[in-house]
Amino acid sequence: MQFNPLPGPFGVEAPEVDLAKPLADADFTQLRSAFFEHHVLALRAQDITAAQFIGFARRIGPPQPHVIDQFHHPEDSNILILSNVKKDGKPTGLQDAGSYFHTDYSYLQVPARATTLYSREVPKVGGDTLFADQQQAYDDLSEAMKKRIEPLYGIHHYGNRNDQNEQSRTVASVLTSEQKAKMPVITHKVARPHPVTGRQCLYAVSGSSFGIVGMPEDEARDLLDELAAHSTQPQYQLRFKYGVGDVVMWDNAALLHSATLIDPSDARTLWRITMLEPSADAAAPEVLASTYATPGM
Ligand SMILES: [Fe+2]
Repeated sequence: MQFNPLPGPFGVEAPEVDLAKPLADADFTQLRSAFFEHHVLALRAQDITAAQFIGFARRIGPPQPHVIDQFHHPEDSNILILSNVKKDGKPTGLQDAGSYFHTDYSYLQVPARATTLYSREVPKVGGDTLFADQQQAYDDLSEAMKKRIEPLYGIHHYGNRNDQNEQSRTVASVLTSEQKAKMPVITHKVARPHPVTGRQCLYAVSGSSFGIVGMPEDEARDLLDELAAHSTQPQYQLRFKYGVGDVVMWDNAALLHSATLIDPSDARTLWRITMLEPSADAAAPEVLASTYATPGM
């Protein structure tokens, strides 16, 4: 199977793959290996149904419907519609989602393995996704910092540590009170071995991390901010530009990502599926949810 590098420090595209046709197991195995090696896989100009999109996603991991259930695809709740298009004055999808560096479902005990987007409508300007390589960012830490963070567990809950103003466009997508009540407070290792490759990666140091187990809150935030500033430097970033029909899939254990804000009147629509890891970290310590209740919860 042919693979071409994306224009950036990582990422690959497979120009021969047509998801509207059956993909043999041997070909899928090559695609899967390339995905975990390069962190981002792009399949350009696809023309597929909701069922074909879901069928492809399921081969990477079990899909998990998003907590924001107002914008689930009518044919399959595993697909979340991201869109700024309004119909009869009503939104047709979730707008401005994830426009800060984060990794998907890091606020769940069993987090996301991968996320895939199918680009249906591309705006005239912008709408790119930025990715940051957390494996390389970890490798480049000083030995002293690697040793310092090795035993640490981050405390996570739904939200964006750097913006909890529900009126802001860079807040985490606002939940209803019913949805907020479903969201747990959980922990993940700050430096986490990748569940497939075993490589150490910084994990969710930006986004849903609000503290560190056993560390005073100020000190924990300073450390998380330092790690986030390090791991989102330009040399770790790939900027992905969408064409109509592009399917992109990214590795949530190895990357942070951020959507870029666009003109709200410049139509953009994508379908999104998020697939889970097979299991949770059995050693992850529990924390008291009441200690970390915030406006984002
Ligand atoms: Fe995201």
